[in-house]
Amino acid sequence: MARVLVMGAYGRLGTLLCPALAASGHEVLRQGRSPEADFPADPSDAASLDRLLAQTRPERIVNLVAATDVDRCETDPHGALVANTLVVERLAAALRCTAPGAVHLVHLSTDQVYDGPGPHREDDARPCNVYARSKYAGELAAMSVGATVLRTNFVGASRCEGRPGFSDFIVGSLRAKKAITVFNDVLFNPLHASTLCEAIGRTLERPASGIFNVGSCDGLSKAKFALRLAANLHLDPTPMTVGTSTAVALKARRPLDMRVETRRFEDTFGVVAPSMDVALHLTAKDYPHAAQSQS
Ligand SMILES: NC(=O)c1ccc[n+]([C@@H]2O[C@H](COP(=O)([O-])OP(=O)(O)OC[C@H]3O[C@@H](n4cnc5c(N)ncnc54)[C@H](OP(=O)(O)O)[C@@H]3O)[C@@H](O)[C@H]2O)c1
Repeated sequence: MARVLVMGAYGRLGTLLCPALAASGHEVLRQGRSPEADFPADPSDAASLDRLLAQTRPERIVNLVAATDVDRCETDPHGALVANTLVVERLAAALRCTAPGAVHLVHLSTDQVYDGPGPHREDDARPCNVYARSKYAGELAAMSVGATVLRTNFVGASRCEGRPGFSDFIVGSLRAKKAITVFNDVLFNPLHASTLCEAIGRTLERPASGIFNVGSCDGLSKAKFALRLAANLHLDPTPMTVGTSTAVALKARRPLDMRVETRRFEDTFGVVAPSMDVALHLTAKDYPHAAQSQS
């Protein structure tokens, strides 16, 4: 078990990952920007980052820091560059000053770096928006220090206040009987967040350098995911309209097929990618009382 510094620990994934790592016996040190964070620091500032590393002396770092609002990245490319690229460059520079192999970096990236028909292999990156380009540049910085880079996507209820995820949006809208459009032309193969946390745990046990896709073994459209989730939860699907993403004006262009090929991760870390059925089942379990006030 290791001393693990989680950067961006108070976001959507961090709030789920930190307790999961602690439960498997790791010593977890949580960085955030707020003064209330266990280890407050501005990782885009080299001096602040150096202080953080001196204070925490981690054996592993999981970097979750990111500007994740894809449309906001498009209108604020500087903010995207700072969070998604500069922070990783600063981190890599700091790690180059430590003894080789003393600290292993696990860096989270995204299936948004792909474009065109999937499932995509790791050498197929073709970022098509500012978010994806800034994340891709962050990957290059992480790879310069032999990091484990995980290109992924995840579903499941958010435990992070003010940052709902896709399934929160579906369940919340259906419960409120609010009309929404779900896209049948956008394909993905996310993991449930808890499965992703297990996968990250695996990379901490067996540090391996490289870029790895992490996802379910199959995939489906976002519309199918939403319909199946509604069915699993006995929620009335009537407010949902199935349509194409072209019907909605978004600031950033989105890849339509984000499905990733997971063989490299499975072979390297000795795991078997679960199916979307598992991701759907675990997501449904996150909302035990979803249908209660629906009638
Ligand atoms: N959410 C998804 O569906 C999804 C899908 C695929 C991949 N990913 C990847 O998974 C990782 C974690 O995502 P997430 O959903 O947990 O993201 P999130 O909820 O947006 O949290 C990201 C964290 O980054 C920190 N941050 C943002 N800008 C920063 C800056 N300029 N300087 C320092 N810290 C900054 C924030 O810290 P503070 O708390 O200090 O504000 C926040 O807690 C990211 O690498 C993301 O690209 C996410």
